[in-house]
Amino acid sequence: MKSQIKFIFASILFLIVSSCQSLSTTTSDPAGESSIAPKKARYERPKEILRRESLLSIPYRTIDTSKNITIFGFGSCNDQNLPQPLWKLIQARSPQLFLMMGDNVYGSKTENQSIADQYIKLNENKDYLDLREAVPFMATWDDHDYGQSDGGEDNPRKTEARKIFGQYWTYSKNIIPKNQGAIYHSRIVGEGKKRVQFILLDTRYDRSPLIKAPIEVPLLTSGDSTAANTVAKTKMYIPNEDPKARILSVDQWKWLEGELKKPAELRIIVSSIQFIADDPGFEKWGNFPLEKKRFLDLLNKNNIRNTVVLSGDRHLASVAKIQLNKKTELYDITSSALNKPSKAKEPELDPTYLAPSYLGINFGLASIDWGKRQLEIQIIGEDDKAHLNQTIKF
Ligand SMILES: [Fe+2]
Repeated sequence: MKSQIKFIFASILFLIVSSCQSLSTTTSDPAGESSIAPKKARYERPKEILRRESLLSIPYRTIDTSKNITIFGFGSCNDQNLPQPLWKLIQARSPQLFLMMGDNVYGSKTENQSIADQYIKLNENKDYLDLREAVPFMATWDDHDYGQSDGGEDNPRKTEARKIFGQYWTYSKNIIPKNQGAIYHSRIVGEGKKRVQFILLDTRYDRSPLIKAPIEVPLLTSGDSTAANTVAKTKMYIPNEDPKARILSVDQWKWLEGELKKPAELRIIVSSIQFIADDPGFEKWGNFPLEKKRFLDLLNKNNIRNTVVLSGDRHLASVAKIQLNKKTELYDITSSALNKPSKAKEPELDPTYLAPSYLGINFGLASIDWGKRQLEIQIIGEDDKAHLNQTIKF
């Protein structure tokens, strides 16, 4: 027995000595004598990287998921290079959570130095910093903070974007598994029969290429050369009917299906791009009709009557509604942009919109009345007034 213990002890000692030696390197000193160099210093990140990381990280508030939620805000499309007048208005409404629904900074132009630099610029805005310190945030990305305009799975900057997303939205590191490329994640806030599930989709990381349509130029009627008639009407994208084309990866679909089975009294699904509106052009779920159908089928299969979709991207605000089934309506509330208004002169009139779209800068505010089991949604403009309202029963 004693000899066995001695043997084990000797083996451990041998392993320790040999592993120490393997960490050291044999070098020659100036005198030409061979020596064991001291153990290599730990890798130290270059100062510039450390400086960037410290500029990226700002004080922020984490959400207390045990506390019931009665008011939250949402918005999208925030250009870090433009004035940002809405942060103060958002803070004055005291939301318990704010959802950043994508294009949270603009870092898609290749002449921009890096996506991280755009977040650092955003961090220079005092009103924004105040809000981050006071209110917990959750975020997903859209194309411009994903690093490529209208980008999808083939975005060459997706690795950079993914790294920066984790570094900037630090809360997500504890929720999104390390080996997951796409940034979809969720959280259930509240307890008892007052649980709100926030599901943030990633509509970028695995999205198949869009199909661009040829530019349609309306024919000029003879002698008529008014500006309105000479402007080319661009239908940017046409539906991709390929059964293999996707917005969400196989894994994200599987994850979403699992999420929808979790108990919650109200579900908020954030999609950076519009889900319901089928207006020609632009990015939307309708560019992948089979994926859109799959989403609707999934909601129907789970008999979900308590689900509301929120979206951004479009530089307009809108309330769209479709009939999910005989008994259930599905709403898609779009709030965009926080500070980059639409260039359009006329409100958009998609057949699914319940009112003309609002073109001014805006954010969304959702108040939950747990007694009446209803959600009151307002789209609030720079004048601090509601420009669109919608009550949704759940
Ligand atoms: Fe976008």
